[in-house]
Amino acid sequence: MKKIVIIDGGPRKGMNTAQMIEAFANGAKSVGGEEIEIKTIRLYELEYKGCVSCLACKLKGSKFTDVCALKDGAAEALREAAYADGLVFASPIYFFQISAQLRAFIERLFFPWLSYVDYSSNPPKGPVPTACIYTMNAPAEFSSKFQNNMNENESVIAKALQKPEHIEANFTTQVKNYDRYAFAEGTAEAKKAYRDAHWQEDLQKAFDAGKRMAEKILG
Ligand SMILES: Cc1cc2nc3c(=O)[nH]c(=O)nc-3n(C[C@H](O)[C@H](O)[C@H](O)COP(=O)(O)O)c2cc1C
Repeated sequence: MKKIVIIDGGPRKGMNTAQMIEAFANGAKSVGGEEIEIKTIRLYELEYKGCVSCLACKLKGSKFTDVCALKDGAAEALREAAYADGLVFASPIYFFQISAQLRAFIERLFFPWLSYVDYSSNPPKGPVPTACIYTMNAPAEFSSKFQNNMNENESVIAKALQKPEHIEANFTTQVKNYDRYAFAEGTAEAKKAYRDAHWQEDLQKAFDAGKRMAEKILG
């Protein structure tokens, strides 16, 4: 039985990032059926830190070159992610970057695999397929302003594992009822029009990426 682990780096259940994740998972299931288990890990439900630079994973003969030595609320999730056959990193964009929670998790996940002898990455399952899902307020034409940050994130993932597929949803609906919030005039209408025109397409992109990952894994 193969396993895809989806790391949900967003705080909100059932909102944009979570819906894109669900679409990805459904795409993977449509190919993988009973042969691929799909597990979503919600980082905001875990209590953990980023890498504390204990360097236990760099000791000569270290036992911690597969999973981080630090035993906090992320330990089990890190083990599951390290031994997955496919990994998805999903996040809302916060100040032009992935969320701090996801970044902290990535530090803990990848650092043990990095050799300071030759700077190679040695993940326990080898370089498994990866994907990144981002959701953001920015319309597609503005997301190019922080494309560099997403590229940096993806180059870290590519170095540790494989170059990820990039899936992004733009100009997302940020709240369910815009009447209750102070937003610029016309935002609710503009967001609704954009969502009506693009959301199904965005979900389809996530679904298709899920299918492709499952196909890769099943070979
Ligand atoms: C703290 C914070 C910072 C944000 N910064 C950005 C940003 O820099 N660029 C952007 O396009 N959207 C930004 N957003 C909007 C979210 O990325 C967007 O609404 C996203 O789709 C939320 O995902 P969710 O619905 O899964 O929570 C920010 C939202 C929050 C709460």
